[in-house]
Amino acid sequence: MRDFLIAPSLLSADFARLADEIRDVTAAGADWIHLDVMDNHYVPNLTVGPLVCAAIRPHTSVPIDVHLMTMPVDSLVAGFAEAGANTISFHPEASLHVHRTIELIKSSGARAGLALNPATPLAVLDHVIERLDVVLVMSVNPGFGGQAFIPETLDKLRALRERVDATMQRTGRLLLIEVDGGVKAANIARIAASGADVFVAGSAVFGADDYAQAIGEMRDELERVSDESEGAGVLAVVR
Ligand code: DX5
Ligand code: ZN
Repeated sequence: MRDFLIAPSLLSADFARLADEIRDVTAAGADWIHLDVMDNHYVPNLTVGPLVCAAIRPHTSVPIDVHLMTMPVDSLVAGFAEAGANTISFHPEASLHVHRTIELIKSSGARAGLALNPATPLAVLDHVIERLDVVLVMSVNPGFGGQAFIPETLDKLRALRERVDATMQRTGRLLLIEVDGGVKAANIARIAASGADVFVAGSAVFGADDYAQAIGEMRDELERVSDESEGAGVLAVVR
């Protein structure tokens, strides 16, 4: 049995009704809430900062998963940690000192994630993978919701799965593979079979009339993969 987490992305929520959207998607079974932070510099879009993270924090009991698409990164870490972020992921291209940024996130009390764009090789994990809690694999180019899943991601996930399993054996620490972009019920089983643990889904959840049904359809697909795979259900510790 393998265990999986679903992380609806607020990018596709109704920003005029964020508190309601968060309560609804939490009730619908979200494991994490994914918060996309865009700065109109690292990516060509602009979203929210720590103020909004702090404002939504009281409206859900599940972990908030902050995805920083900003450059620089370090100056935002303390603000998001104080605003209640449980995981903070950043892109290595956006930080001059990747190792330092990872340590900064961890010392803030949050889990640290490194986000890899579609064209970013796994080699950026060299020398830092043992310190990470999450590897966030982008399956679209960052900046917008509603894009199509890039199929080359599946090969990358398979290679990463081997590397992550070997790393966890060495360190005895949990290291999650998260996939972000174009995930929906129609492709989630293949993505899971390729190695992902955590599934970000924006338009597939918030674009649906019934969030519980949308998340439920993904879980049904994941259940088939879970039955066929090995793993100890360790993700309960990060729910
Ligand atoms: C893209 C964001 C994603 C986005 C995913 O830059 O990082 O989290 O919201 O949206 P969908 O699921 O619609 O591809
Ligand atoms: Zn994201």
